[in-house]
Amino acid sequence: MVYRYERGIRKFLFLTKGPKDRLDLPKGHIEKGESAEQAAIRETKEETGLDVKPDRFFRFTVAFWFMAEGEKIRNSVRYFLAKVPAEAKVTISDEHNGFVWLTYEEAMKRWKFKKEILKFTNDYIDRLEAMEKLNAEYSMLPGQAKGQWGLSTRFVPGEGPLSASVMFIGQAPGAEEDARQRPFVGRSGVLLSHLIKLAGLRREDVYITSVVQFFPPKNRMPTPEEAALCRPFLERQIELIKPSMIVTLGALASKELAGVDNIMQVHGHAIEKGRMYFVTIHPAAAVRLKKNMPLIEHDFRTLKAALESAGIKQKKQGKVRPHPANKPKTSAAT
Ligand code: URA
Repeated sequence: MVYRYERGIRKFLFLTKGPKDRLDLPKGHIEKGESAEQAAIRETKEETGLDVKPDRFFRFTVAFWFMAEGEKIRNSVRYFLAKVPAEAKVTISDEHNGFVWLTYEEAMKRWKFKKEILKFTNDYIDRLEAMEKLNAEYSMLPGQAKGQWGLSTRFVPGEGPLSASVMFIGQAPGAEEDARQRPFVGRSGVLLSHLIKLAGLRREDVYITSVVQFFPPKNRMPTPEEAALCRPFLERQIELIKPSMIVTLGALASKELAGVDNIMQVHGHAIEKGRMYFVTIHPAAAVRLKKNMPLIEHDFRTLKAALESAGIKQKKQGKVRPHPANKPKTSAAT
C-alpha cells in the first residue's frame, strides 16, 4: 500500500486493470534469493516507477489455501506500507491501464475486494502519526521539567509494530540505548531477544519500551518523581497500541504498572489489573547474576504457555481461508 498527502489529504495509490478499470495494487511473487520486502520494493518500482522504503514494522499477512492435484497447499500474501512525497511521479508498466490516488473513503467504496486490509492500513497510519506526535511531545519533557529532571535529555522511543499484541516494558534505557536512541540494544537487549524467542515470539512482532524513556546517568534507578513525570506518556503509548498482554520487565515496571511490591514472589505469573500483565525479572538481573538465568528463562516459557492459553497470536494477521486461485509461490504487495 503506497500513500501520500495531497494538500493535507491522505491518498492511497491504486493501479487500474482490465476493461472495467478494476483497482489493483503493485504486487508480485518473491523471486529466488529475495526477501518479501525486497520483492515488494522491486515490484513497486517495476509497476509504478516509485522508489519506496516500506515502514519497518507494518505487517499484515493474509494466508489462504487451495487444492492442486489433490493436495492442500498453503500460501500467503504479505502487505507492506510505504509513504511517498506528494510530488512523487508514477509511471505505470504495460500490465496496467492507469493509476489513481484515492482517499480512504473513496477507496472503501471502489475497492470491493480487500476492505479489511484498507481499514487496517488507514488505522495503522492514524496510530503511526499519533505516536510520532506523542513522542515529539515526550521528547520535550526534559526542557519543561527543568528543576526536577536528572535524566539524560536524549529521548529513546519505543520500537515495534503499533498493532503488536504483546508489549515489553523495561525500566529505563542504558548507555548503549542512549547512544543509539533505540531500546534494549545493549547486553540486556541481546538476552531479551533470546527470551522473546523462548516465548514463541519474534522481536520484530512485539513492541518494546521502558517506563522511563531517558537514560538515568550511571544507570541508576529512576526516582519516583521521574517515573511520575514520564508515566502519562507511557499510558498514552499503551492506549495507542492496545496490547493484549504487557510483559513487565523488572521491579520498576512491575510496581508502576501491575502494582507488584515484591517481584521475587510474583515473577512468572500473569496478573489482571485492568489490563493483562505478565511479571518477570529484568534481563539485566540475569546478565549480572548467572543464578537468575534459569528463573528468567522459566518465566518466558511460562509466558509462552500464558499467551497460547489466552489465544494471543503474534505471527499472522488476517485469517487462513480458502482461495480459489492457483498461485504456486508466496506473493508480496506494497
Ligand atoms: N533496560 C531497560 O529497562 N530498557 C532499555 O531500553 C534497556 C535496558
